[in-house]
Amino acid sequence: MTHKNAYLNAAMIGAALLSIVVSARGVGRAAAPAAPMLPAAAAPPAAFATCNACHNTAKSEPNGVGPNLFGVVGRAAGTRPGYAYSPAMKGSNIRWARAKLDAFLADPKGVVPGTKMMIPGIKDAAKRGEIISYLETLK
Ligand code: HEC
Repeated sequence: MTHKNAYLNAAMIGAALLSIVVSARGVGRAAAPAAPMLPAAAAPPAAFATCNACHNTAKSEPNGVGPNLFGVVGRAAGTRPGYAYSPAMKGSNIRWARAKLDAFLADPKGVVPGTKMMIPGIKDAAKRGEIISYLETLK
């Protein structure tokens, strides 16, 4: 082995060690509770404050008064594991696409008669739109 090669080898080992240290730090961060592999979660719009009282949104959080809403867009209604839905919600046959969410948030009892989500409904379409756009980021 020439001196030049020995030097290159030492440099490569150094680089490898450095990358191990860097990735070990990355792993440390990955163990943190809030979805660390994703860029910082989108901040909820002000209108979501109403929902927050009853709904968690991070993947690892438990259900609250209402089911956790992580991944709700595209999911069949009444199917979040571990949550005791009303028979009305379980039997609703809804899949939560944008238009359905919009109708439900405007008038929960109108879209799912017998639901136990007891809010009067969000009358402001722009606010519903902001809320639904936020829900879409929860995946
Ligand atoms: C007072 C508590 C409360 C508030 C406030 C509330 N919810 Fe709910 N929500 C519930 C409950 C309870 C259910 C379960 C309904 C059922 O089983 O009939 C529910 C169900 C839902 C579902 C269906 C979830 C699924 O897994 O099928 C969605 C979507 C939802 N809420 C969105 C919202 C949004 C968005 C807001 C804010 C505008 C909101 N909720 C405000 C209590 C609440």
